[in-house]
Amino acid sequence: MLNRRSLLKAGTAAGVLAAVPAGLVLGTSPKRAAAAATASFTVPLRVPQPLKPTRMAAYDVYRLTTREADVAIVPGTTTRVRSFNGTLSPLIVARRGRPVVIEQANALDVPFSMHLHGGHVPAHSDGHPNNEVTPGRSRLFHYPNTQLGSTMWLHDHSHHSHAENIYRGAATTYLLSDPAEDRLPLPKGQYDVVLQLRDAKLAEDGALVYDLNGFNDRPTFLVNGSPRPYFEVAARKYRLRLVNTSQERAFVLRLGEGDEFTHIATDGGLLPAPVASRVLQLWPAERQEIVVDFSRYPVGSKIGLQTMQTYPGETPEVMRFDVVRTAEDPSSVPAVLRPAEDLGTPTVERQFAMAFDQANNQHTINGKAFDVNRVDFRPKLGTTEIWTIENKDAAFGIPHSLHPHLDHFQIVDRNGKPVGPSEAGMKDTITVRAGENARIKIKFTEYSGMYMFHCHLMGHLTMGMMGQMEMVR
Ligand code: C2O
Ligand code: CU
Ligand code: CU
Repeated sequence: MLNRRSLLKAGTAAGVLAAVPAGLVLGTSPKRAAAAATASFTVPLRVPQPLKPTRMAAYDVYRLTTREADVAIVPGTTTRVRSFNGTLSPLIVARRGRPVVIEQANALDVPFSMHLHGGHVPAHSDGHPNNEVTPGRSRLFHYPNTQLGSTMWLHDHSHHSHAENIYRGAATTYLLSDPAEDRLPLPKGQYDVVLQLRDAKLAEDGALVYDLNGFNDRPTFLVNGSPRPYFEVAARKYRLRLVNTSQERAFVLRLGEGDEFTHIATDGGLLPAPVASRVLQLWPAERQEIVVDFSRYPVGSKIGLQTMQTYPGETPEVMRFDVVRTAEDPSSVPAVLRPAEDLGTPTVERQFAMAFDQANNQHTINGKAFDVNRVDFRPKLGTTEIWTIENKDAAFGIPHSLHPHLDHFQIVDRNGKPVGPSEAGMKDTITVRAGENARIKIKFTEYSGMYMFHCHLMGHLTMGMMGQMEMVR
């Protein structure tokens, strides 16, 4: 079982960051990019520390203060970030069947609307922009945790500052464990590690440079808030929970020389069955979990994790695994992980045409930009729907995603073809490449009220690519 104490022990000591040339964070000129390549893997990975509940009753209470803080990202500099409780990527570990209440105090000077991405939560706790917590105020959020185990994340959903709040660091992992999953022999404790991936642009003095439209000018990859870190591992199996908190960056990951790993879970948790893979796509807001068996490498090996999709001048390295010792390994990946859910027969169809509206400089869904006074549709709780998502931006080459709040979905097909086993699990965010289309099957349950659906590329979302649906009984 993934308990808090073992995760705590797994934490590496902060503040032992090695010196690294400033060139690492620039990467703007070819010369600097070269310097960046040699300077990778000089900082150890920070393993996220589970927060301790402030109170435990019939539920766990956490106090999260959203506030600015100065943290060390690049050694020798400090970076002003927007944080939860003053640290980068703290971790909340929740258990299925045990509710969590978050008391959020907003000490930022911008509004903040806490959203549990992937969470099956009542509308009043979903972070609707109408429920923003203004500076100096606080609010309670109720997360029932009745859903199946999965790796989720907490981020802002306020009306105007969400993209920047996420960019400046206020994004953290919320891990929901599940008794059925705990009984599986998967790697646990210190061998179950969250890796929050994102890109960033850092100035020479360590400052985060924010530009909503700067999607191709964020050359520094951060893992749990450290630039291209190394992680000392034992020669055994690890479960790695990858979360992409980037504004718009897609990671197309490969390990070592294209070595094999086992894909076990996605946004909504475990896949029906494990899939042997050599490439892992991780689009913004998505989660993908893999098991890597480091016992296939001799102690002393160093295995890089790279992205195969980079902009010119970027260093493809994301992080490195250094195999430093042997260890017992009672873990294994069972052939059956979690039976696929039957969502029933769809009786409602909806279309989502995602397109950039050049004339008005907006991103739209079905020709419309977000309007908080418009309800786009009203799904009936308990009804299964089929949604067709069409990316109309072949001419611009822009990918789009669709993320409905409240419930997870299954991907039926992409461009008319059934999807493979690595997309056979429950999802909450689907990316559709330029000019392509996909169909998903979704069934909303239990909670009535207003929920959002939107593209999760933050520039697009900010420029209108969002709508709202009201769940009705
Ligand atoms: Cu990551 Cu509307 O959410
Ligand atoms: Cu969400
Ligand atoms: Cu988009």
